[in-house]
Amino acid sequence: MNAKWLEKNKERFPKHIGFIMDGNGRWAKLRGKLRTYGHKIGVDSLVDISKYARKLGIKYVTFYAFSTENWKRPKDEIDEIFRLAKKCIDDNKDDFNKNNIRLNFVGDIDKLPNDLKIAIKNCIKDTKNNDGFVITIAINYGARAEIISAINKIIKAGIKSVDEKTFEKYLQTAGIPDPDFVIRTSGEYRLSNFLLYQSAYSELYFPKKYWPDFREKALDKAIKVYLKRNRRYGNV
Ligand code: FPP
Repeated sequence: MNAKWLEKNKERFPKHIGFIMDGNGRWAKLRGKLRTYGHKIGVDSLVDISKYARKLGIKYVTFYAFSTENWKRPKDEIDEIFRLAKKCIDDNKDDFNKNNIRLNFVGDIDKLPNDLKIAIKNCIKDTKNNDGFVITIAINYGARAEIISAINKIIKAGIKSVDEKTFEKYLQTAGIPDPDFVIRTSGEYRLSNFLLYQSAYSELYFPKKYWPDFREKALDKAIKVYLKRNRRYGNV
């Protein structure tokens, strides 16, 4: 992105972008490779996009890494996704504190393999005070499960009636602003149970590119699309 253009427009950039990383399998198949190779290169995209978003002054990014529905996939593929997630945390964890980055997770972490669970818990603890840039990974996440769990916590606390502000405190995303912009790659037009409550007013964008090909230039293009949208929040 041109430095002058960036300076002129960055005030209007989205503060929080959610990414539904789709198309890893198809990207790999197109190249005659295993689906898991697509996930491996997909992790490179996640790292590239995080670094670039931070450089552009975007404060929050959230990535949909594994949905509650993804357990239906072959075991080998699931194991490889979790192995790649653990490796990505291990490879980058020193950078987080060095660069004031908080790595946050939403989803039911308890059901994940033990080594990944421990890596996630340590990462949350070690980076919780960093506030320069916040990366949230949605893993074993489903928005409906998140909402139901919030309701159950409210009932357990004996609260009889809540408003939006109170309800949001019981969501796993508490403290993180709603996404201004949600991008799903690969030309599928669905939210697939991603941040359903939080994306009520998000701008949505569905580029054709498969996730492993979604890099800096693609994010530039997406932001330009976002800047052309007219966010009215129900107003005229
Ligand atoms: C969708 O492609 C992508 C995923 C299921 C995400 C894969 C997640 C990771 C590799 C883990 C990342 C986590 C961290 C902590 C870095 P797809 O398989 O649905 O592709 P398809 O639609 O072409 O089949």
